[in-house]
Amino acid sequence: MTIEQPASRTQATQQLSGIPFHPRPETGWINDPNGLIQHHGRYHVFFQYSPASAEWGSIHWGHQSSDDLQHWEGHPIALAPDEAYDRDGCWSGCAVATDDGDVIAFYTGVRQTAEQQWDQTICAARSAGPLDSWTKLASNPLVSPPSGPDLVGFRDPFVWQTATGWSMIVGSGVRGQGGCIFRYDSNDLHTWQYSGVFLAEVDVPEAEAWLGTMWECPQLVKTDGGDALVISIHDEHRLLHTMALVGTEEGGRFVVSKASMLDCGHDYYAPAVMRDSDGRWLSWGWSPEARSADEKAGARWSGLLTAPRQLTVDRDRQLLVQRLPRELRDRAAGEVSASRAIPDDGSAVAIPLPAQPALVRLALAGGRSSQVLVRLGDDGNATSLSLAWDRYGHVLIVDREPSAQAVRGAVSVPVDSTEDLELLLLIDDSIVELFTGEGRTATERVYGAASTIHFAAIGGPAELTTLEY
Ligand code: FRU
Repeated sequence: MTIEQPASRTQATQQLSGIPFHPRPETGWINDPNGLIQHHGRYHVFFQYSPASAEWGSIHWGHQSSDDLQHWEGHPIALAPDEAYDRDGCWSGCAVATDDGDVIAFYTGVRQTAEQQWDQTICAARSAGPLDSWTKLASNPLVSPPSGPDLVGFRDPFVWQTATGWSMIVGSGVRGQGGCIFRYDSNDLHTWQYSGVFLAEVDVPEAEAWLGTMWECPQLVKTDGGDALVISIHDEHRLLHTMALVGTEEGGRFVVSKASMLDCGHDYYAPAVMRDSDGRWLSWGWSPEARSADEKAGARWSGLLTAPRQLTVDRDRQLLVQRLPRELRDRAAGEVSASRAIPDDGSAVAIPLPAQPALVRLALAGGRSSQVLVRLGDDGNATSLSLAWDRYGHVLIVDREPSAQAVRGAVSVPVDSTEDLELLLLIDDSIVELFTGEGRTATERVYGAASTIHFAAIGGPAELTTLEY
């Protein structure tokens, strides 16, 4: 059937003026990015969307698109929970282009069976036109969970084309054993054969962080420099963090060589990936709110997608590196401050920031200091985000207190170099996305505008080598 668009859904088509980097609808709740695809040159991003309120609820697929990765346009809702097999939600999934030019979206159809319990199956919908109208397949659901293991979930299909047909991976976890991913294969995208376990926790060598009890939103990245599997770590209805497992996809399974945090911040989850016509792997993640339920209700919206990130497997096939794509990176082009000494006498170098959204690039040389401190705030003492580069601890400590609630405490971003630190900060209203020159990221929701950036050193002077925006 074709999904009609009732009048109330026009809210999803509103233009997003003023929110250039971070796609979200004007009102309602959003979580994971879904169905990323470049179609007739435009980048299409779908997302988990609950239009009725700023809380997670009856999940639809919202839809926005862009031709420059910066300005986003709204589209009608793509998928709504309106069939017996998805009556309680169209949860996460992906989209692929078929050989005849149509697009098929694979998603998780859910039916609630008890408090916090959902039957989950893999379903699909097809679009023949400009992706504004979708027909759910008559053969839905296409895939049900394998019988046998006691699963804690079965969701979030990711589909890719292989030399002989199509493969799909689905996120899951086996009670008492940990996260796992199942694999299916198909010749026609409609009939899927179960091909076994793609990866189970027992096969992941020492990981940089806990691997939880279920893996959500598995995404496979196949670059010239190596493969990576991105998973979002779930435990008993808690969404924890996101891991990048670098390794090799071979013989229907994934062999992990290194398991690292994908983003070190508090507010990043469920990233999805796509390959564009330039061969770039791009990803968007979901950045949940870090403010109270009352503040969310007052704002009438909750959650946004991060800016796109370009992914490469780098550094001896150890790390899934994240960088801003050139379209965004090039915006920080004008030198504002050339080479300034950063004193260690308790005073600070203060430089005004531009209006937001702002992209700020800075480079620091450690000099004789042991730590370099960077603080975003106002002209006085108010701080919205502070950074401490602990050079010999090989770490950048990122602290957003007191400018956000939710999970408290600082996070740390590994930094290999003891000599130099390059940082790119994308500061946009209530979010800061931090990229290190080494390809690590931290995403933090920060409520409170920053008008000034301050630099100070401890243990000896350091140097601000460049500041551009
Ligand atoms: C991740 C997730 C997915 C699920 C969706 C439901 O945030 O829990 O596993 O499909 O959100 O909205």
